[in-house]
This record gives sequence, C-alpha cells and structure tokens, in this order.
Amino acid sequence: MYFTTAAISALALPAFVAAQYGYAPPSNGGNSGGSSSSSAAASAPTAPPSGNGFVNVDVAPGGNLVYSPANFTAPNGTIVTFFFPNAGLSHTVTQSSFIDPCTPLAANSSTGAPAGFDSSFQAGVQFSINITNDQIPIWFHCKLPMHCGLGMVGAINAPTTGSNTFDAFQAKAMAIGQNEPVESTGPIALGGFGASATASPTNTATASGSGGSSSDATRLTTSAVTALLGAALIMTFCA
Ligand SMILES: *[C@@H]1O[C@H](CO)[C@@H](O)[C@H](O)[C@H]1NC(C)=O
Ligand SMILES: *[C@@H]1O[C@H](CO)[C@@H](O)[C@H](O)[C@H]1NC(C)=O
Ligand SMILES: *[C@@H]1O[C@H](CO)[C@@H](O)[C@H](O)[C@H]1NC(C)=O
Ligand SMILES: *[C@@H]1O[C@H](CO)[C@@H](O)[C@H](O)[C@H]1NC(C)=O
Repeated sequence: MYFTTAAISALALPAFVAAQYGYAPPSNGGNSGGSSSSSAAASAPTAPPSGNGFVNVDVAPGGNLVYSPANFTAPNGTIVTFFFPNAGLSHTVTQSSFIDPCTPLAANSSTGAPAGFDSSFQAGVQFSINITNDQIPIWFHCKLPMHCGLGMVGAINAPTTGSNTFDAFQAKAMAIGQNEPVESTGPIALGGFGASATASPTNTATASGSGGSSSDATRLTTSAVTALLGAALIMTFCA
C-alpha cells in the first residue's frame, strides 16, 4: 500500500513539527507552498558517492525512515556528510548512546565526555561531522516523533560482534517503538563524542530538484503511516 507525500501532508504532521519543533519549511519546497504541482514534491537530494576520506549519507531516501548507509566504519579525520531531503518531513541527525538509542547524548561529568552532536530539525541541507576518535562507537537517531522507534538510527564504528552491534542498537530502538520519549527541539549542537560537526547545517551544495519523477510518489510503509497518524493524534492532544 503506497501513500504519496500529499497524503502525508494531509495528516498535518508538518504543522505539528512547525508548531512544536520550530521547523520552518524551506522556501524552495516543503509542504507549506501554495503550489501542489509535482515540483512541490521534489525528489530528495541524493548523496553523492562516498570516496577516500569522506562518507556521504542519505537521510530518509525516498521517504523511507532510514539513513543510508546506516552502519559503517570511518577512521579518524573522515568527514561524514548527511544529506537531508528538501521535501516532506524534516529530520535530525542526533547523537545518542547504545544504552538510550532515542535520547540525545548528554555530557558525562564523571568521564568528562561531551554532549553529542545534533543537527536539529532540517530539510534541504547537508550536515558534516568529522570523526575524532574511531575507537568510540558513534550512535545517532532522528528526533522526529517515533522515527527512532521505527528504527531510524545509525552507527559509525560500532562493533561487528558482541552485544552492542548496529543490529542490536536498532532492535533496541524499535523495542522502544511508540513509547519513544518526546524529545526537546534542542538547538544545533556541534560538539560530540568521537565526532564533532564541522559547521552548522548548510544548504545542500549539490542541489537536486532535477528530474526524479519516480521519487515524487514517495512511498512509506503502512506502519510508518500508522505512526504518523499517531503523531498527528499527539498533536491534537497537545495543541
Ligand atoms: C558516565 O560514565 C560512567 C562510566 O562510563 C557511567 O557509569 C555513568 O553511567 C555515566 N553517567 C551518565 C549520566 O551517563
Ligand atoms: C578533523 O579533525 C582532525 C582532528 O581530529 C583535524 O586535524 C582535521 O583538520 C579535521 N578536519 C576537518 C575538515 O575539519
Ligand atoms: C583516533 O584518534 C583518537 C583520539 O586522538 C585516538 O585515541 C585513536 O587511537 C586514533 N585512532 C587510530 C587508529 O589511530
Ligand atoms: C553492520 O552491522 C552488522 C550487525 O550489527 C555487522 O555484522 C556488520 O559488520 C556491520 N557492517 C559494517 C559495514 O560495519
């Protein structure tokens, strides 16, 4: 069963995001525009191929609630750049911990570890982090209500065996599911544990907006839409 981005718009979740998360849809797209032509449902930016010393990650490609890739290794000095779609919902790249997959990583006064990086809610931008300690697994998630609980998480330099693998992390997030705590909007945070942002999010350099008619009909799974409906209901009760 497929739903278009227009159907999602009808759920008014973007309004919820705007009201509760301070997200202003970009002027070049999003769901707020008066135009409902196909250009309003512009294709998501597609991350360019990764290369030596850098990894490019698609955020919610095709409307799917995933990072792609979501699980990879990156040595010290690697620049990991997240490409946020320029249409549809906003998303975040927010560092968390294996213990609490859907909770932003707080500073730890006993170890001196800093708080995690956070892109805050974004669309149509790119956000880069620099790997500063490849001996530390870097866990992250999307803060939009229920996205983490639906498995929108990622890991860099996670162990490939043992108890704290990427798969275990994602399973933990999905076990939280609809009980995911509502997260603070939070400001953009550049510092992080094992990685830090090189700058605040900037407009996507490799502007897309071209072609891609097949991705206009963004496809979401039934469960994702159910969750969006749930979020819309939360909006109703919180309003
Ligand atoms: C801080 O780090 C220590 C050692 O890893 C850990 O036992 C403790 O739970 C952490 N505290 C918080 C608030 O995360
Ligand atoms: C990444 O961090 C390293 C130090 O950990 C630094 O030497 C390097 O210049 C940084 N790269 C960028 C592009 O900021
Ligand atoms: C990466 O940098 C961290 C922090 O300086 C260091 O502890 C670690 O050994 C480095 N990794 C490698 C493979 O040298
Ligand atoms: C991704 O995660 C799985 C299981 O958590 C692991 O076995 C695999 O090696 C990981 N892939 C990469 C590229 O790290």
